[in-house]
Order: sequence, then C-alpha cells, then structure tokens
Amino acid sequence: SDDSVRAVACQAIEQYRDQPGNLLPILHAVQHALGCIPAGAVPVLAEGLQLSRAEIHGVISFYPHLRSTPAGTVLLEVCRAEACQAMGGEKLADHAQQRLGCSFHATTADGAITLEPVYCLGLCAQSPAVMINGQPHARMTAGKLDRLLQAEGV
Ligand code: FES
Repeated sequence: SDDSVRAVACQAIEQYRDQPGNLLPILHAVQHALGCIPAGAVPVLAEGLQLSRAEIHGVISFYPHLRSTPAGTVLLEVCRAEACQAMGGEKLADHAQQRLGCSFHATTADGAITLEPVYCLGLCAQSPAVMINGQPHARMTAGKLDRLLQAEGV
C-alpha cells in the first residue's frame, strides 16, 4: 500500500540521513525492501532529501539494476555487446522479445519474466550468450533459449 511504501522510504532516509552521497544506498534499501522503487516512493524521497523528483527518476533510470516495477520470477539477460552481436545476438534479442511479448527493461504481462540487456558476460568466445537468473549460458540459439525458459517453468 502507499502507506507501507512511504514508511519504507522514510526509514531508508533515516538510516542514511547523515551519510554524504546517500541517494544510492537509500534507493537500494527501498528496492531491497519492496523489490523495486515504486512511483509512490519518489515524492517521499524527493522531499526527504531535498532533491527534485526528476533527479531521483534520473538516478533510477541511469542504473540498470534499479527498477521502478517489480522484476519477474525469472530474469533473462541477453548480451548485446559486440562479440555477441557479431554472432547472431541481435536475432536472439529479437527472438527473446517476440517470445516474451515485451521489450528490454520490461516484464512479461503475467509477471513471469523480466528481460534486460547485459553488456558482455565474458563468454565472447562462445557467443552469443545469455544469463538466466544469474546463470550464464553460451552458444545460445532461439530453440535452446526456449527450452531453457521452459525448464524454468515460464
Ligand atoms: Fe557477449 Fe562478451 S560480448 S559475452
């Protein structure tokens, strides 16, 4: 509820009140408690930290690991860096978006899968690569990706 979002935001501000550069730790604390930084937290943080809402939104959108909506049960990260792109990574990215029916930085309508880009997983020699819930998978193909997601139950 809005009240609990407000309470979490206030508590995070309190916890880091005297620390310089406290915006990031505060945002992390909110995301840790709520799974994301909901829109309702932004005005509370803005007021408490004497920042504009735009500044806070700017920081949330700058850091890929900060999110304003909850992540899905499965986090699928598709490598979009150069070596993977050269090995069909773009096609794989298109396939992932089609299969999921959502774009990058978004979650499927049923809340099951969140799709994020990632820039090099250190698997360039075995590209293209993806990561599913923190587990890297190399030499990815559309068919292999579908099977992996199926194995995750999504
Ligand atoms: Fe994709 Fe390095 S570019 S793993």
